[in-house]
Order: sequence, then structure tokens, then C-alpha cells
Amino acid sequence: MKRIVVIGGGPGGYVAAIRAAQLGAEVRLVESEHIGGTCLNVGCIPTKALLHAAELYHAVTHGASHGIKAGNVTVDWQAVLARKRAVVTRLVRGVEGLLKANGVTVHRGPGALAGPRAVAVGGENPVTLEADAIILATGSEPVRLNFPGHDLPGVIDSTAALALPAVPASLAIVGGGVIGVEFAALYRAFGAEVTVIEMLPQILPPVDGEIAALVRAHLAKQGIKFLTGARLDEVKQAANGLTAIVAAGDQSEEITAEKILIAVGRRPRTAGLGLEAAGVALERGRVTVDANFATNIPGVYAIGDVNGLIMLAHAASAQGIAAVEHALGHRAAYHGHTIPACIYTSPEVAGVGLTEETAKARGLAYHTGIFPLAGNGKALIESGGTGQVKIIAGAKHGEILGVHIFGPRATDLIAEAALALRLEATVDELITTIHAHPTVSEAIGEAALAVTGAAIHWPPARKS
Ligand code: NAI
Repeated sequence: MKRIVVIGGGPGGYVAAIRAAQLGAEVRLVESEHIGGTCLNVGCIPTKALLHAAELYHAVTHGASHGIKAGNVTVDWQAVLARKRAVVTRLVRGVEGLLKANGVTVHRGPGALAGPRAVAVGGENPVTLEADAIILATGSEPVRLNFPGHDLPGVIDSTAALALPAVPASLAIVGGGVIGVEFAALYRAFGAEVTVIEMLPQILPPVDGEIAALVRAHLAKQGIKFLTGARLDEVKQAANGLTAIVAAGDQSEEITAEKILIAVGRRPRTAGLGLEAAGVALERGRVTVDANFATNIPGVYAIGDVNGLIMLAHAASAQGIAAVEHALGHRAAYHGHTIPACIYTSPEVAGVGLTEETAKARGLAYHTGIFPLAGNGKALIESGGTGQVKIIAGAKHGEILGVHIFGPRATDLIAEAALALRLEATVDELITTIHAHPTVSEAIGEAALAVTGAAIHWPPARKS
């Protein structure tokens, strides 16, 4: 029986462990903190629990236009946090149960390579585990900036932002990426004054530029202030909180806020893993891997955030499955171009495949089709028709290259687009797939029609 040791119990590591056990391996999982990793404990799940509460609050306080009037609605923040904790605890216990049911042995303590085929587990019950293959799945940690004032109380990271004792009256967020934008939406919905400070000219850099601009305009309408092309120089203590000194072009701005959240990216967690001694190759802090997620040391794999390829939970899970299948001699399949990216604002944002910017940069001949959600009945009912679906397709064969959605249920709808990419579907195949009415998914068929200039529920562009 082959022995697999997985270091790290996040969505990369625990999924890899379960898959390896399914394939008949003797599996040990080493975890120094909580099973579920960043995703379950201080990432995806708790943020979405808080964002869901924010959505409910917004729905009851803005229901009048739908004929729902509620008086004296209050937020019991401690109860909001308690519900978040309850969801997290339930999911963590669920994953622990799954590991047990699959016969995976969990070792509590920090794990490090003790040679190419051994892992040393520290902590209260130190032990050395022999392995035929080792999966590094240690994830990532927030990038820290060393500006003057970085250590003042009130300067926080995303973990602290998930457990603030109260909704802050004001919040400045450094970094207009996914974390920055989700927290901006969250705390704005609960009434905080929010300013986002982003270094680049646009927020959400990897998102299709047209969609990112729509999201920014929508969030600005909700009262979030954006400073783009702006760099944080310093944070100073102020009488009523903290003051961020920000350079924007040749201007200097001062933003005073109760808390300052730093969300400028995450970096692979590699310290203390014994990588150097074992000779594992790194490049700019990331463990380098080949197409099977194997490192340069035979039998040692690195999956998820620690290899820095794409920092998303579902990508880590898919990589974990592919890595253990390869390690156990199976033919693994990993289709990286089908990984969707989702942002849980209200309405949501989701995309898969190439953005228009990437298609252009690669010199591809392509067409786009855009369907505004103002032309979709269900989107109109749910969120006033804000947003759009955009499809990028090859000019010659009509193959789907990318799909980008800003609108209600975008994060669920994107699954159809991911499948379209996996099956190498064409615009015609999306058009002839019948979408149920009334659903927001109809807009995907309409955007495919728009690629051919023939959307049904949107007027044709005027011919000049
Ligand atoms: P990010 O890479 O998405 O965004 C960081 C932003 O900070 C960028 O826009 C960058 O230009 C900006 N920035 C960097 N240095 C700066 C500075 N000194 N001043 C101002 N702006 C600066 O990283 P983020 O948002 O921290 O997220 C980390 C990872 O977690 C990402 O890979 C993200 O995809 C993932 N994540 C995914 C979520 C989801 O799938 N819904 C939710 C949250 C995070």
C-alpha cells in the first residue's frame, strides 16, 4: 500500500487526502491549526456568511420599492458573528468527519520535510512519517507592507476584519482586489463609510476591464469611495482613529478612518517547511511545479496557494486531486482554463476563460457579445436589471473563449460557462441550449446570440 503524507488541511490538502484514500493509499494529514485552512476558517466561508447577513439587512432595509416595509431594523453584530462561527464550526466538523470516514489519520502539529520521503511533525506529539509521496498544501498568508505606522492598533488584515468587535464607523481599505472589494461591500452594507485605495488605475485587476468598471460604478453608487492610481505612504494616529497618507499622482490625500484594512495580496506559506534543506526549488517565494504539480524533488508535490499559480480554493482542490492521482500512478486530468473566479458583491461577479484584455494581448481574432441584464426579466425582478453578461468567442469558429457576468447569481451561473469551455463549446451550441424562463441564465443564451448580432430581447445596434 502506498503511503501519502499531506501537509496542510485546507481545501487543497483535505481534498487531496480524501482522493488518495479513495484510491487505496494509506493517508496521513498534518495540520498545525484548523482543518479547513484559510477557506473554511478565515476566508471564503466566514466572509460569505457575513456577506449573506449584509444582503439580508440590505433587503429588509431597502424592501420598500418591492412593497416590503420594515420599521426599526437593527443589526445585532454579535449575533451576526455567532452565526458565522456556527457555520464555520459545522463545516470544519463535517470535513473532520469526512477524513475519519475515509480512514485518513490526522496529525496535529507543524509538519516539515525531513528528507525527500519523510515528514517530521512537531508539537505535542512529535513523530516522523515515512511516505512514498508528500503533498505540500500549506496555503498562503497576507502580504504585509512595511509603511510607517503599519503596526498601529487599528491597522488590520483580513482575518481581523472578520471578527471586529463592532461595525466600524469608517474603514479605509488598501488594495482594490477581491478581498478589498468584498470587505468594502460588506461593511458599506452595514453602514460604514468606506474608502478603497488601489495602486493600479482600475480595481479588480484580473477581472475583464469592462465588467470591473461596471462593478466600480455600482459600488460607488452605494457610497464606496475609490482612490485609484494611489499609494499608501504612511498611517498616523489621529484623534478619532487613524489617518492614511496617500499619494495619488502628484497629490497627497489624507483619509481618516476607524480601521485600516491591508488587502494587497497573499503570498505562499513556505517558512519552516524544510524546503531549502530538502532542495525543493522555489521561484519568487513560490514552490515551482510541473503540469502534474510535482516539484523538482521526485515524490514531492505542491498544490494550491503554495505554488502561487492561482490562489483559489476550488483550484487548490482540483490540483490536489490531480497531484495524488499522478502520485498513485493514475492518469490525472486538470483543466486549468475552466477555473471560474467569483466575487461576492451584490450583485455578484464571476468570470471564466479569457478576458477581453487577454484575448487582445494574445493577438486572437475574437468577437464579443454583450447582453445587459435590464433585458432579463428575472434580473429585473431581483436587482433592478443591474449588470451584464459578456461572451468572448473566436472569430472564425465561434468557440467560447471567455464568459464574464456581473449580475444576480453570477457565481452559480458561471458553471455553465465553465462547462462550455471544458467541452470546447461554440456560440451556436450555447444558443441552441434551451435556457429556462424566467431565469437569469437566459442572459447567457442572449449574450451568445449577441455575438452574432441577433439578441432577441435587446434592440439591434442602429445601422448607420
Ligand atoms: P489581489 O491580488 O486580488 O488584490 C490586491 C490588490 O492590491 C491589487 O489590486 C493590487 O494592485 C493592490 N495593491 C498592491 N499593493 C498595493 C499598495 N501598496 N497600495 C495600494 N494597492 C495595492 O489580492 P487580495 O484581494 O488580497 O486577495 C488575495 C487572494 O485571495 C487573491 O488571489 C484572491 O483571488 C483570493 N481571494 C478570492 C476570493 C474569492 O474567490 N471570492 C475572495 C478573497 C480572496
